[in-house]
Amino acid sequence: MHEHVTHPVPAEWAANAKIDADAYALKYRASVDDPDSFWLGEAQRIDWMRAPTKIKDTCFDTDNFRIKWFEDGTLNLAANCLDRHLATRGDDVAILWEPDHPDTPNRQLTYRELHEATCRFANLLKDKGVKRGDRVTIYLPMVPEAAVAMLACARIGAVHSIVFAGFSPDALAQRITDCESTIVLTSDEGLRGGKKVPLKANVDAACAKAKVDTVIMLRHTGADVPFVEGRDVDWAEAVAGMSAHCEPEEMNAEDPLFILYTSGSTGKPKGVLHTTGGYAVWASMTHEYTFDYRPGQIYWCAADIGWVTGHSYVVYGPLMNGATTLMFEGVPNYPDFSRFWQVVDKYEVEQFYAAPTALRALMREGDEWVKKTSRKSLKVLGSVGEPINPEAWDWYYDVVGDKRCPIVDTWWQTETGGHMITPLPGAHALKPGSASFPMFGVQPAVVDPADGHVLEGATEGALVILDSWPGQMRTVYGDHDRFIQTYFSQYPGKYFTGDGCRRDEDGYYWITGRIDDVINVSGHRMGTAEVESALVDHDAVAEAAVVGMPHDVKGQGIYAYVTTMEGVENTEELRKELIQWVRKEIGPIATPDVVQFAPGLPKTRSGKIMRRILRKIAENDTGNLGDTSTLADPSVVDDLLANSPHAK
Ligand code: PRX
Repeated sequence: MHEHVTHPVPAEWAANAKIDADAYALKYRASVDDPDSFWLGEAQRIDWMRAPTKIKDTCFDTDNFRIKWFEDGTLNLAANCLDRHLATRGDDVAILWEPDHPDTPNRQLTYRELHEATCRFANLLKDKGVKRGDRVTIYLPMVPEAAVAMLACARIGAVHSIVFAGFSPDALAQRITDCESTIVLTSDEGLRGGKKVPLKANVDAACAKAKVDTVIMLRHTGADVPFVEGRDVDWAEAVAGMSAHCEPEEMNAEDPLFILYTSGSTGKPKGVLHTTGGYAVWASMTHEYTFDYRPGQIYWCAADIGWVTGHSYVVYGPLMNGATTLMFEGVPNYPDFSRFWQVVDKYEVEQFYAAPTALRALMREGDEWVKKTSRKSLKVLGSVGEPINPEAWDWYYDVVGDKRCPIVDTWWQTETGGHMITPLPGAHALKPGSASFPMFGVQPAVVDPADGHVLEGATEGALVILDSWPGQMRTVYGDHDRFIQTYFSQYPGKYFTGDGCRRDEDGYYWITGRIDDVINVSGHRMGTAEVESALVDHDAVAEAAVVGMPHDVKGQGIYAYVTTMEGVENTEELRKELIQWVRKEIGPIATPDVVQFAPGLPKTRSGKIMRRILRKIAENDTGNLGDTSTLADPSVVDDLLANSPHAK
């Protein structure tokens, strides 16, 4: 039913938008017909130190593989976010900070203040021996200093690696070690929904497993935390002695800007590496067009800086565009379910960008929480991180946006740096649940998952991208083979996204979700292999298999099948312990929703676990388990069915 509802572009949007339907068609054609001219034009949005003359040099064929954008250009991204605004909008607010609790005083930093804080902190990093190219791990809550830290790294050419402040000490240590960073930036504690998060204690625990020389700690909640002499540095005390002047380092367009770890279908999380010039053009361009952003507007992306959305759309994109970007420390349901909309009213937010999981959680609580707020400042609503189901889409559109605000359902990935497929508010009629059309320069295609041939017209299959775009990741840090293997080997010559998708008769793209062993829990990517590896680390566990299951609020939940060691009793207590164990090993976002004890897992005679069967049982779609005759022991399935929570 829903798929037949289309919301046309409102007349005033068509008339006033930066990009209307005709402009989209023209620009899109230009971007794929003559990429060099198109991107030379878009590159003008950046203040280059040396303007690029070579624009695009890319090839996805593995024997001649290369991705280079603007390769002879030089620039500094922090200067593009700060210095160039000083003359025109130095006293405009760059960052508006809304604390966890509404009664805590808020903060704001003008472009001038943010520039000064960045320069001081950049000098502190240098003072601690950080040099161009060095990796700096950031494990901070949502406070303005997190943005300061990112910009300070960019200013001196250091490569930041932000680790989401909800990850465990082990996960943090693993990421510190992988990128060989010897400095960690953190705070005493984080604060979310009134609950304290022991960030410094987590860093201390991680330091026992990783080689860290320096920890710079921000005092945020004021908690009394251990301080290791010779290693730990008090942020405020140390920056006070630093000069407010720091020349931005001249970086090559292809120099690394940041690493961000993300989960894949196999093995450890991989360090997605983004470079400077192409990422800058991409983040700035997509932020401007997708949100129809104009200087002076108050813009709010509710993502955490620990995810790529926070990188591109809380910090870099908006600041390059001279925006006032709102940074929110808290959560949608604290102190109550009105919190988001009260913040919207408090600052007269015009663009609001969040994940469907938050919307679904709020939708459950009823419309009154929304309706008691005005929200009349809102102009565009954004969705990111996972498919938005039509019910949540309708609620967002009807209740939050009062049927006035276009919804931009932005499909993209950590790997893509910024928006890849999204409607533009003045250009595209909206279909609830469809990410709609490609961004300029993006050439999506749907291929047959079995043989990789490109499917035309209305169809369904695996989503690939045919050619490079400037914001594309350049490598997996320290493992270029893994990069090629993961993204370019499945369908040679094409970038494989890991997502399934459908294209309808009007050319709209509908992302159907991951088709590899990655699950999407509350918009957060989780590799089933990571959860399995955490489970088998427990003494009682012999073997584990993890799959996704449908979940009303989270989108997908985590369903774990566990075979315990000989002689271990499968008690309710052990089940609870295993759930807590994974939470502690990886972090709360990896908490399994279901742990089912299984005396055996369904394996083929060659020992391969048949995940298709496990998925079907987790989804409670057991009428159609397919052919189980190739299993080494088909009776295993009967036990799984009988003991599934759905059977009880
Ligand atoms: O499956 C897609 C889903 O999230 C994956 C990327 O996750 P991550 O790298 O953590 O980046 C999240 C923020 C961009 C994709 O492969 N995804 C993201 N946005 C959407 C989506 N699925 C459907 N619709 C979206 N708008």
